[in-house]
Amino acid sequence: MGDDVITVDGDRLWRSLMELARIGAYTDKRTGLVGVNRLALTDADAAARRQVIAWMEALGLAVRIDAVGNVYGRRDGTDPGAAPVILGSHIDSVATAGAFDGCLGVLGGLEVVRRLDELGIATTHPVEVAFFTEEEGVRFRTDMLGSAVAARRVPLDEALALTDRDGATLGAELARHGFDGPDDPVLAPPHAYLECHIEQGPVLAAGGEEIGVVTGVQGISWQEVTLDGRFGHAGATPTERRADAGLAAARAVVHLRAMADSGAFGELRATVGGLHLHPGLPNVVPGRATFTIDLRNPDDAAMDRAEAAFAAFLHDLEAEHDGRLTATTQRLALTRAVDFDEGLRGAVAAAADDLGYSRRSLRSGAGHDAQELAHIGRAAMIFVPGEHEGISHNPREYSTPEACRRGIDVLATVAVRLAR
Ligand code: GLV
Ligand code: MN
Ligand code: MN
Repeated sequence: MGDDVITVDGDRLWRSLMELARIGAYTDKRTGLVGVNRLALTDADAAARRQVIAWMEALGLAVRIDAVGNVYGRRDGTDPGAAPVILGSHIDSVATAGAFDGCLGVLGGLEVVRRLDELGIATTHPVEVAFFTEEEGVRFRTDMLGSAVAARRVPLDEALALTDRDGATLGAELARHGFDGPDDPVLAPPHAYLECHIEQGPVLAAGGEEIGVVTGVQGISWQEVTLDGRFGHAGATPTERRADAGLAAARAVVHLRAMADSGAFGELRATVGGLHLHPGLPNVVPGRATFTIDLRNPDDAAMDRAEAAFAAFLHDLEAEHDGRLTATTQRLALTRAVDFDEGLRGAVAAAADDLGYSRRSLRSGAGHDAQELAHIGRAAMIFVPGEHEGISHNPREYSTPEACRRGIDVLATVAVRLAR
């Protein structure tokens, strides 16, 4: 081991992960599994935010909240003018989450600070622990929203005006919970941004590696499609006279899967995660269907081709219906493939080596706040393996206490080497 490696208290880290996971916990009726449901700026997310802020304050961090609700807790450095090393991620979740997605990076950041205090380590650069608003994007329908505002990809006023399905705006929900902070959300480039996260995929577990050095994140495209056909009587409308928006939507779902399977669009992944038929009654031919499309692709050109091919499919669908069915597409989000800073990747690899942890490099399948921060400065990510083939966005998401601790050992070691 190098003499400047830092190891953290894995039990303490684990206890904080389990404690935060109680906020927004639910039991799945069918499986009996306990998961986490903490959509951004719901009462549960607000309670979790207050808990993490209380932990920040207990550590003596100076807490600031910006106008999009991003929260930063600062441990001063010895040079008041030095840019911070930010350790961040998110604590909002999808509706079927586990305890680790995002939370490991945030609570791991707090554990790093605790350890620095215990060891009496002063750093030249400040160390900040951050959590960003609406990383998941599932409530206000733009992912990495808070960090995108911080990195100037999304303007603040646009973000605040986004609405959820009930018409509540992000701005109103921030104000309701008191997270409409006074600070300008646009971040100055940090000295470095580091995020430790569960892999959420099978790669590390399959190879038996303890640490993932993340090379980058693939592109993400989110759209919502509305198909307007014709409502009709289920018994009395002859099959050939229907403009069945539900059937058209089903064909679109199958088509997207065929596109992914075809290999013609590189390593495309395609998901229709939300699908609503209107009016949703057994005896009415559905006249309207709305569905979301999530496309992932590490190759931006292949992503563009996939989007164009799907638009052409919708066009053909309309043509086939002779004007009785129309398709409208709304863009929700589009982020391009991002490569993380090579120097920081090297620093993550070196820290893993010095700690004696096996490692491999891999690209992230999921989106992360780090990809936004990478647009304004140096950013890197550390992955830890998940159990059960890395399943995530599922209550079965699980990473062992040892795996979590190793990831935060690496986070602490890299952070101190950079901040010193
Ligand atoms: C965000 O976490 C995503 O990859 O969907
Ligand atoms: Mn996440
Ligand atoms: Mn997630």
